[in-house]
Amino acid sequence: MLRSSDPNRVIIFDTTLRDGEQSPGASMNIEEKIRIAHVLEAMGVDVIEAGFPVASKGDFDAVREIAKTITTSVVCGLSRATKGDIELVAEAIKPAARGRIHTFISTSPLHMKHKLQMEPEDVLKKVVESVSYARRFTDDVEWSCEDGSRSEHDFLCRCVEAAIGAGARTINIPDTVGYAVPEEFAALIRMLFDRVPNIDQAVISVHCHNDLGLAVANSLAAVSAGARQVECTINGLGERAGNAALEEIVMGLRTRHDRMPFTTGIKTESIMRASRLVSAITGFVVQPNKAIVGRNAFAHESGIHQDGMLKHAGTYEIMRPESVGLTASKLVLGKHSGRHAFRTKLEELNYELGDNAFEDVFVRFKELADRKKEVFDEDIIALVDDEIVRAHDRIKLVDLEVECGTRAPRAKLTLSIDGEQRHCEGTGDGPVDSAFRCIKTLFETTARLQLYQVHAVTGGTDAQAEVTVRLEENGRTVNGQGADTDTLVASVKAYLNALNKLLVKREKVAPSAALA
Ligand code: KIV
Ligand code: ZN
Repeated sequence: MLRSSDPNRVIIFDTTLRDGEQSPGASMNIEEKIRIAHVLEAMGVDVIEAGFPVASKGDFDAVREIAKTITTSVVCGLSRATKGDIELVAEAIKPAARGRIHTFISTSPLHMKHKLQMEPEDVLKKVVESVSYARRFTDDVEWSCEDGSRSEHDFLCRCVEAAIGAGARTINIPDTVGYAVPEEFAALIRMLFDRVPNIDQAVISVHCHNDLGLAVANSLAAVSAGARQVECTINGLGERAGNAALEEIVMGLRTRHDRMPFTTGIKTESIMRASRLVSAITGFVVQPNKAIVGRNAFAHESGIHQDGMLKHAGTYEIMRPESVGLTASKLVLGKHSGRHAFRTKLEELNYELGDNAFEDVFVRFKELADRKKEVFDEDIIALVDDEIVRAHDRIKLVDLEVECGTRAPRAKLTLSIDGEQRHCEGTGDGPVDSAFRCIKTLFETTARLQLYQVHAVTGGTDAQAEVTVRLEENGRTVNGQGADTDTLVASVKAYLNALNKLLVKREKVAPSAALA
């Protein structure tokens, strides 16, 4: 059990890779999940929920690969209350230094009657069976009562007591549909502490959804009522309106320690890095006014505020931007910077690259510094992420020339497909469409474009563009990313990156028929 000797220590359980990935369109591949898991671990997340192994082979593999590489965080997999699901999770977390099985079943009258079509007494039996079975594989078992906040109190108390009796060491109370309000949710947690006789043998956890915008408020109210684990996601990613945002929970506890005297193990300076990575990988843009990680969260625009800030930062700033890893966007490197300075900068930004990857990125940095007057940290992050994203691509951009403006647009494109160069010229509805049509001519695909999104990495007209392209093929969705000072090059790179990912997915289904 992950219980701290400090009674006020709150365990941070991140479910970006499981509940977060359940957001339509937010699918991630294994490499992307591993990258996120490493950032979460470095950030000090206590438990990483890496997936739902029964959902797909990809989910199983992701949990297993993450379990192999993560050493300090607990790696957790989700399962329904069935032997088959539990065995799959047990198998997936086997390589973990510290693994957890998280099993759940619904306990609300509505869910039991309509979703499970089971009698409450049968659900109770399942609780005991599933938790006892999971305990055969590990001591670290978490049990969740899905739709817990809409469950009848007497029945919920019986289930929680039974789950603890069967060996669950964490009891999670979800507000699955985001229906609760803070006072009510805190009262529910207090009620459990008052009425469940063996409650001191488990850590009480909460898992709040954000349908009414109250996920963070409900989670913090529950902590004040005795919960010591919070389940949350980076940027609040998750089903429907999302889950409680990790960065808001952690910074709320840190900033208002006077009212909520609780601590977490999160290195808050890593928050921005995690937020940007999750946003870039999923293509889910962070709204500018989003608390903690939004672009405007620390920006002071109005004259009165700027004047106050100049006199004393505390006038309008309740957190220091540096505390979440937001360094004032300063000029860091230029075209005269050498390898040593560049390597030091990468270390500062938490990148560990092998020698070959370093050389590739260094060449690209020099090219960028030649084209762009000022090179900021954000530029380097976009550039390195772009290089990492493309490392295993089979379809690569060789050359792109586009004519556009008041004349009819025209694209000339050369791609390398498995080492062989192919060329195409074509027109379309605008330059981006012309380039994308050329790609489809060179590489036949039935994939449909679901999202095309451009975002400027920094300010200024010489800013790098970061493009996300979402493609869908036979029910499978992938996100591709591309970054470049030329928006069209970035767009083609993003499209190709998505196609490459589809290719990997196709290979997994039918290895011989992978190339169209
Ligand atoms: O929202 C929910 O109830 C869940 C459970 C599976 C924990 O995600
Ligand atoms: Zn959930």
